[in-house]
Amino acid sequence: MEKTRKIRRVLRSKPTLEGAGVHLNRAFGFSEPRSFDPFLLLDDFRSDIQEDYIKGFPWHPHRGIETITYMLTGKVEHGDSMGNSGVIDPGDVQWMTAGSGIIHQEMPKGDLYGRMGGFQLWANLPAIQKMMEPRYREVKSSQIPVVNVAGGVSVRVISGEVDGTRGPVRDIITDPEYLDVSLPAGVEYRHPTKTDHTVLAYVIEGQVYYDPEKKTGAANRDLVQFEAGEQVVACAPEAPARFLLISGKPIGEPVAWYGPIVMNTEEELQIAFDEYRNGTFIKHKKVDYRK
Ligand code: FE2
Repeated sequence: MEKTRKIRRVLRSKPTLEGAGVHLNRAFGFSEPRSFDPFLLLDDFRSDIQEDYIKGFPWHPHRGIETITYMLTGKVEHGDSMGNSGVIDPGDVQWMTAGSGIIHQEMPKGDLYGRMGGFQLWANLPAIQKMMEPRYREVKSSQIPVVNVAGGVSVRVISGEVDGTRGPVRDIITDPEYLDVSLPAGVEYRHPTKTDHTVLAYVIEGQVYYDPEKKTGAANRDLVQFEAGEQVVACAPEAPARFLLISGKPIGEPVAWYGPIVMNTEEELQIAFDEYRNGTFIKHKKVDYRK
């Protein structure tokens, strides 16, 4: 029988101010740079109040990481130093590998009713890939398969595999899995996980139990970190629920982190910020992006 992962801890996300004044909830980040290796940060920017998000994230650099934005409600307009620009609509994913460096802006616009909803995950890059060429994967909602599992469970597969269906985001360095799982009431869902991976669940609706005894419930905006094991078991006994299931292969390297740049050493961080100041930050394709 497969060994079910036990809950290591349940963390409530914390109200945080980011960007030019965006009120969001941070599930983890900054204070524990290696606890969730290879992941660095998870922000939840769901809000019904336009003032919470409208100031957005104007031009800023990234180096040494990947940022993964998954939208549920509203949209984010973006542009970058490679000349890309576009809109992330509901259900879409933007998987950005900053690598050697990108300067971009991300401006949330909300929907017709002023509602906004989405998540941004940061995945670290190992030393040998930190200075790789930047790349984008824009995944439209229609490209993300929905797998209907026995019992009425449905899973959107962004990255990874469910019942033989693979998600569109592939060949990523930390071999991540990113699933959006909708659970009907009273149904148990089991998902196999790679034994050496870090596994996290972030609840976005209802109350989910990941222990067979159903003692430790995780509510909306709670993050669950799991112990090692071969599978995750989830159940929402009382009412339907929904959660993000995220896993990735740990990198196991030192982390030097300041703001949007994550390197291995303080010296590399210093170089990055010096380059940003003196205009030599962008190593690959550069266009006049701020016009
Ligand atoms: Fe960013």
